[in-house]
Amino acid sequence: MGASLPAPASCAGTGGVSGQRSQKDVSMNSSSVITDLNRGLSLPVVVAPMFLISGPDLVIAAGKAGLLGAFPAPNARTLEDLSGWLGRIEGELSTAGRSGQWAINMIVHGTYDRFDAEIEMVAEYKPRIVITALGSPKRALNKVHAFGGKVFSDVINAEQARKAVDAGADGLVLVCAGAGGHTGNYSAFAFVEEVRSFWDGPLIAGGAVSNARGVMAMLNLGADCAYMGTRFIGCRESLVSDDYRQMLIRARMQDIITTAAISGVKGNWMRESLERSGFDFSQVDETKKIDFSNIQGDQKAWKNIWGAGQGVGATTSIEDLFCVVDGLKQDWNWLLQTQEALRHWS
Ligand SMILES: Cc1cc2nc3c(=O)[nH]c(=O)nc-3n(C[C@H](O)[C@H](O)[C@H](O)COP(=O)(O)O)c2cc1C
Repeated sequence: MGASLPAPASCAGTGGVSGQRSQKDVSMNSSSVITDLNRGLSLPVVVAPMFLISGPDLVIAAGKAGLLGAFPAPNARTLEDLSGWLGRIEGELSTAGRSGQWAINMIVHGTYDRFDAEIEMVAEYKPRIVITALGSPKRALNKVHAFGGKVFSDVINAEQARKAVDAGADGLVLVCAGAGGHTGNYSAFAFVEEVRSFWDGPLIAGGAVSNARGVMAMLNLGADCAYMGTRFIGCRESLVSDDYRQMLIRARMQDIITTAAISGVKGNWMRESLERSGFDFSQVDETKKIDFSNIQGDQKAWKNIWGAGQGVGATTSIEDLFCVVDGLKQDWNWLLQTQEALRHWS
């Protein structure tokens, strides 16, 4: 079992981790963004932004537990609410010595009418990262760079990833198959690999990551950080009802239905909530017209139809976020020890 066997002459030598991305390939600019992304984190995990789920309590708890908590700006019902949330998040985290250790998710889609007002507030409170969704990150770049923040673009395929890089995004969030909310179609195995063939910069990847093994797997695939949403929905700090939490506990991956008939974008939803709301399952392959205006309006279907990803089975009880993170850390440390066993194959 030698460590340095030369590659057979017939091997092209382009595959493998070193062929794909070595430290020296990562530009100074990119590596400083990665360092910045992970600064202050005790695990390489972003608590992903979730509509009507992530609010200040979840973001603050995540930051205090050593993760990077994120929330979608539209979760604050009014701009006044948003201003209050931003002040509270930054205030409490900076008191805890974690100033800026949070991220905000902004819709950049043309139908979303609050973007300009929101970005002004974001510039005032200076999160470490702004994650753009449902459009080009270009709209956010100047304002965010001006206060020293970084813009990560949420993408679901390689074409979107290329466009985001071309538009000047500092980093990418790859939403892979199995993710909750507006999900991706592509396996993380294929998606991360394909994007790594043209992007050596900061990369976060998610989709059914629900434990420390999943986090480590994403890093091994080539991500710098894992994106976890569904695992945190059931936490006491989230904005959801106990009814939603109990439904998560009952659900397994076969209960997750993928359809664009709810919001116009392919999303993963819990079957039980679709049934309860009277959803017509013959429409599951239909695509609703996209409309993100008045996103919090009571007539929007997603008020009663509840999202979750294929990793939903990992939620078996209602816990504080701190306990979920404690479990992740213990499993992470155990995994590090078991990695030694892999040497058997070297
Ligand atoms: C119910 C729900 C709502 C979501 N809402 C948003 C959102 O508003 N904006 C966004 O960028 N991503 C949203 N997401 C996607 C997450 O940010 C993330 O990509 C996803 O949760 C990762 O997959 P996982 O749930 O399997 O961990 C949502 C996810 C869920 C489960």
